[in-house]
Amino acid sequence: MTALISRPAGALGGSAAVPGDKSISHRALMLGACAVGETRISGLLESEDVLATAEAMRRLGAEAARDGGVWWVRGCGVGGLAEPETVLDMGNAGTGARLIMGLVASHPFTTFLTGDASLARRPMGRVIEPLTRMGAHVEARSGGRLPLAVIGAEAPSAITYSLPVASAQVKSAILLAALNAPGRTTVIEPQPTRDHTERMLTHFGVAVDVEDGDDGSRHISITGEPEIAAAEVRIPADSSSAAFPLVAASIVAGSKVRVPGVGLNPLRTGLLDALREMGARITTENAGTLCGEPVADLAVEAGPLKGIDVPEERVPSMIDEFPVLAAAAACAKGTTRMTGLAELRVKESDRLGAIARGLEACGVAVEEGDTWLAIHGAGGPPPGGGTIATGLDHRIAMAFLVLGAACREPVAIDDDEPIATSFPGFSTVMDSLGARIEAGEHR
Ligand code: S3P
Repeated sequence: MTALISRPAGALGGSAAVPGDKSISHRALMLGACAVGETRISGLLESEDVLATAEAMRRLGAEAARDGGVWWVRGCGVGGLAEPETVLDMGNAGTGARLIMGLVASHPFTTFLTGDASLARRPMGRVIEPLTRMGAHVEARSGGRLPLAVIGAEAPSAITYSLPVASAQVKSAILLAALNAPGRTTVIEPQPTRDHTERMLTHFGVAVDVEDGDDGSRHISITGEPEIAAAEVRIPADSSSAAFPLVAASIVAGSKVRVPGVGLNPLRTGLLDALREMGARITTENAGTLCGEPVADLAVEAGPLKGIDVPEERVPSMIDEFPVLAAAAACAKGTTRMTGLAELRVKESDRLGAIARGLEACGVAVEEGDTWLAIHGAGGPPPGGGTIATGLDHRIAMAFLVLGAACREPVAIDDDEPIATSFPGFSTVMDSLGARIEAGEHR
C-alpha cells in the first residue's frame, strides 16, 4: 500500500496509451472457455480483475495463457466446464464474480467464490434470484454476499426475466447461464445497458435476438446449447480508463491530448455526451470496428467548462464515470446536478459518499442526497489539498489523482493498490502526458 500525491500540473500533451476494455476482456475469456478450439485474444486487459477471471477459467477446466502479446484460450465447449477443486478468488472483480456465477449456475457441480473486502460487501442477490429460477441453488453469507457457493442446476431451465435494476452484469449472468439451458431465455431490461455480452456472443457465432419495446425496454433472447467455435478477438481500449486522461486534459489549462483506439459502444458514451455539454472540446477520428464494437481515436483540448444537469436516463451509459465527472464538475463554472445514482452506493465502494467526502476534502462545495449529488464548481482550479480514502475503489483513486492535476494544492490518495484492478500503469501514462503523480503522503 503506497500513498500517491498528484501535484498541480502544467498543460498536458501527447498520446495516452490506455489498456484494453475490462468488460470486454472478461467476456472474451469466458466465451473462449465455452468455445471449442483455440480463441486468440489481442489487447486483453492484464489487470488484477481480468487475471482473476483467467485463473477462474483455468480452474473450471479451460486453458488460458499469454503467448507474446496475445492470449489464447482452449475452451471446453458449451456445458463442458468442470468443478473447480478450490475456491475461486475473484479479488475486487464484481463483473468477474457475477458473470462466473451465471456460467457455473447451469453446470451440475458446486463452485465456491470469494473476493476482497470490497467485493464481499456487494449485493449478489440480484444475480442469485434469476439463477435460482433457472434451477441453481446458492448458499451465500447474510444479505446474499460473498463468500458463497453456487450449486449448479442438474437440469437448468430457460427463463424469461425482467431485470429489477438496470444492470449489464445481471443481464450477462443470465445470458451466460442460458448457454447451457435448453430452450429460449429472454432478458428484459428496463433501460438498455452495455451490450458487450450480446456483441461478444454474436462475434462467437451465437444468434442473439434483440427487440426494443415501446417503453424503452429491450428484450434480449438466446436459444441454449449452441455450438460455439473459437474466435479471433481484438479488444478496444477501455473508454472508462480513457475517461481519466480525457477529463484531465479538459480541466488542465492549455492541454491537448489524444487517446487512440477507444471503444465507443453507444451504451458507454454518456461521459462524452456530458463533457461535450459542459463545453469540452472532444473530437473523434479514425472510426472503425473491432469484433463488433465501434472504436475511434479521441482528441481533446482544454477549455472552460460549465455545470450541467445530467439526465437520469443517461446514468447506465456512464455508470462508472461519475467519479471522474465529479472532477470535471469541480472545475466547471456553476452547478452540476446528477440524479438517479442509487447504484453508485453499491459499486466497489459507496461512490456517492466517496465523491462527496473527497470533494469536501479538496475544498469543493457539494450537496449529497440518497441518490443524487450537486457539485458547485470552482469555475477554475479548485483549492485541493485533501487526502482521499480510496476504500479499495480504483475509480475513486484515479478520479482524485486527475483532480489533483487541476487544483491549486496537491491531492493525495491513501492507497494506490486498487488502481491495478483496471488500469495498471495509470500513473506512468498520466505522467507521460505531464501530470505529476508521485509516491508520497500529502503534508
Ligand atoms: C459492468 C457493468 C456495470 C459496471 C461494471 C462493469 C459489466 O455494472 O459498473 O464496472 O462489465 O457488465 P452493473 O451491471 O452492476 O451496473
